[in-house]
Amino acid sequence: MRIGDLTGSTSPKPRSGLRADLTIEGLDARGRGLGHLKGYTVSVRGGVPGDRLLVGLRKVRHRRKEAEARILDMIQPGVPRKSAPCEHFGLCGGCLWQDVAYEDQLALKSRLVETCLAHVGVEPEFEAPMQAPSPFYYRNKMEFSIGTSDEGEPTIGLHASGRYDHVFDLDACHLQSELSNQIVGLTRDFVRSRGLSSYDLKRHTGLLRFLTVRDGKHSGEVMVALTTSEEPFEAAAAYADALMTTFPEVASVIHSVNGRKAQVATGDVEHVVAGKSSIIDRLGRYRFDISLGSFFQPNTFQAERMFEKVQDYAGLKQDDRVLDLYCGTGGISFYLAEDAGEVLGIESSESAIQDAVRNSAENEVEGCRFMAGPAEELLTQLDGAGESYDVAVTDPPRPGMHPKALAALGNLGPRRIVYVSCNPQALSEDVVRLRRYGYEATSAQVVDMLPQTPHCELVVRLDRD
Ligand SMILES: C[S@@+](CC[C@H](N)C(=O)[O-])C[C@H]1O[C@@H](n2cnc3c(N)ncnc32)[C@H](O)[C@@H]1O
Repeated sequence: MRIGDLTGSTSPKPRSGLRADLTIEGLDARGRGLGHLKGYTVSVRGGVPGDRLLVGLRKVRHRRKEAEARILDMIQPGVPRKSAPCEHFGLCGGCLWQDVAYEDQLALKSRLVETCLAHVGVEPEFEAPMQAPSPFYYRNKMEFSIGTSDEGEPTIGLHASGRYDHVFDLDACHLQSELSNQIVGLTRDFVRSRGLSSYDLKRHTGLLRFLTVRDGKHSGEVMVALTTSEEPFEAAAAYADALMTTFPEVASVIHSVNGRKAQVATGDVEHVVAGKSSIIDRLGRYRFDISLGSFFQPNTFQAERMFEKVQDYAGLKQDDRVLDLYCGTGGISFYLAEDAGEVLGIESSESAIQDAVRNSAENEVEGCRFMAGPAEELLTQLDGAGESYDVAVTDPPRPGMHPKALAALGNLGPRRIVYVSCNPQALSEDVVRLRRYGYEATSAQVVDMLPQTPHCELVVRLDRD
């Protein structure tokens, strides 16, 4: 087969199985490399900007002019590649960039973010990217899936790339602690020795669905949760006993029951099988009670540094009234309250707000209040009531701020907004919308929260003219 046979003007439409010479120009939202062939956008797992690759086309969608391809050969790398430390690299749907040196990962993330913002004319002064203290073993939570091997035994690990129905047996993940790898191993031996079945996604039969390990990076406390499709889970007490006897760090063993079809590890019913219902950890000087369903930033040490950056960009004065929008369980609010007169945290999740209130009381934080409800509604009410705030921090979910929330924030007119986001595209669009209220992005920093993956956080300071 000829290489590059799609690039000529008379070439046929791309079709599955064709090989082509492709240059990667950018990344999609999932971190796959993107290139163009005959007017089609082609995504390639593992490709990074600058790579020239020999690829084989797989799925081709003519109506959308899109295709997926896999790498057959590297013709010219955009960044040098090294061998990945993880034996599951390539098969695993997790880390995409383990074969890229860490400093090159940072440079790639910076370039992508800066290009994305510059594309819409947003050009703050970028600080050097904030590198993670540890590029491996940083995650404080992993949800492992449970599947079935060809021999019919439970497999515990992660999904093979692009295969929602195939879970490979994990030997060692390099993103969470070695202890969590050992917990995976013990759990696998235990469920196999008991002849327990895995949940079958297609037939909706079988018991075991997920294994979640939460790891208090400061406290050393560990939570282990097994999610099953139904009750009872008769081996639960024996499982907890095996875990706690082998690993004294395990402070909480939870049985979670998810009888719904949705593939989520947090079930509708939770039983504490042994130990406590939650574990404790810290962010900076603040102590948090973390239950199975609580949101907690996945990289503890880097979250602390990111919150300090938010505090720095906020530049608060003693009497300032501050908004912390999309505040989760209140982590950023506590940091802001150190320097401000008062902080109002707004968040749609009732349970997160309950956690925020409890955490602020336990940490004796003064000057923080919390409101549960959609930011778009609560901000509109605050604006209508003639409230005023000096500074606002906003950390919305991936799609960015609701237009009504953004308009109400613009009308409230704080002198400064600190925008935190894991999605530079959504952030750049919101920053452009905030211009009509007089805001301009002045400083920015990429925060590498998830090394080995293409994802990052971005903190941007906006000042009003
Ligand atoms: C990226 S997280 C921010 C977490 C928090 N700042 C922290 O660091 O712990 C986004 C938060 O927005 C919340 N959320 C989603 N939609 C919302 C809405 N319409 N109004 C308010 N909060 C919302 C989610 O529940 C989630 O806690």
